[in-house]
Amino acid sequence: MDKNKVKVAIIGAGNIAQSAHIPSYKKLNDVEILGVCDINLDRARDVANRYDIKYVSDKYQEILDIEEIDAVSICTTNDAHAEIAIAAAKAGKHILCEKPMAMNVKEAEDMTKAARDNNIIFMMGFVNRFRADSKLIKELAEAGKFGEIYYAKTGILRRRGTPLGWFTNLAKSGGGPVIDIGVHVIDLTWYFMGKPKPISVSAATYSKIGDYKTKGVSRWVALDADNIVFETEDSASAFIRFENGATMTVDVSWAINGKETGVYSYIYGTKAGASLEPLMIYDEQENYLFDSAPVINSENSFVNEISHFIECIQEGKETIAPAEDGLEVQKILNGIYDSAKLGKEVIL
Ligand SMILES: NC(=O)c1ccc[n+]([C@@H]2O[C@H](COP(=O)([O-])OP(=O)(O)OC[C@H]3O[C@@H](n4cnc5c(N)ncnc54)[C@H](O)[C@@H]3O)[C@@H](O)[C@H]2O)c1
Repeated sequence: MDKNKVKVAIIGAGNIAQSAHIPSYKKLNDVEILGVCDINLDRARDVANRYDIKYVSDKYQEILDIEEIDAVSICTTNDAHAEIAIAAAKAGKHILCEKPMAMNVKEAEDMTKAARDNNIIFMMGFVNRFRADSKLIKELAEAGKFGEIYYAKTGILRRRGTPLGWFTNLAKSGGGPVIDIGVHVIDLTWYFMGKPKPISVSAATYSKIGDYKTKGVSRWVALDADNIVFETEDSASAFIRFENGATMTVDVSWAINGKETGVYSYIYGTKAGASLEPLMIYDEQENYLFDSAPVINSENSFVNEISHFIECIQEGKETIAPAEDGLEVQKILNGIYDSAKLGKEVIL
């Protein structure tokens, strides 16, 4: 065993762990995956065998008690993120937490406090920040290219894309497309805008067609996809106000009778604007309107995310996606649910 390697453990050995976290850690020379935990012990054992992982358990505390482990990826269902993150912080482990941070704002606050009190690096798995096109927009925003960003539109509309499994079980997920995919676009666009403080949310959620029998469509399937219930919204629309006067509109769906979109984010500034996807910059040059399409190679955003996490641990530096950001985004997500329930704008 190489003493200089960062030693990580995976907690929750399901789809995202197997398809993104483990392969990304495996690509890095200075990382060793030393432990894996899943409440489904057979699954944890299978992953340990396939990836040659030394320690296996169905109890996360047993993994956290292993002193040589420096850091954990939390890849469980949403309901377990807070409990595990707080225990991991108390055990002095650095944390990469899958999105959404938590089920609600109170949990996110407790996680943020635990991270700070125990002086560990807590990074949110806001993977869209690590896309090549996102990095370019963020770089331009920070360089002042857009001037004051005062308005933004973002969303992701799936026509028939309700995930199968725990995602539609409210007690396990905390919500539907708002908390599952809305979290990505809200975070990304808020990040482009310079992370202004959210002050109010007005939103509506709908649960009309998400529990469908449509044939010929594909969907994300959780590893345990039996006993499926449909208790969440299937789509939502929201309007968010920020302390600096800027606003954001959001539209998300797992199921809607309209055109499917990927992740989209439009930011509008006093000097220029930008969009993704497609990546475009809109400005004026020599008093003419210009539409520019930057040329960049796409990158593996999960590898970028996990490389950044490891670099922060090795160099003791702040992550670009700290717990505080997860908490602010959580306030918006739960603000959407609160506003939809009350049928009026809520103050955050
Ligand atoms: N970043 C992304 O784009 C992205 C994509 C998909 C999922 N996710 C997130 O990743 C997380 C996992 O999603 P998934 O699709 O891999 O689900 P999954 O159901 O495939 O895997 C979750 C695993 O966690 C295990 N688990 C649950 N509670 C546990 C506990 N207390 N201790 C140990 N293991 C526990 C389950 O047994 C299961 O194996 C969710 O938070 C989800 O929102 C992120």
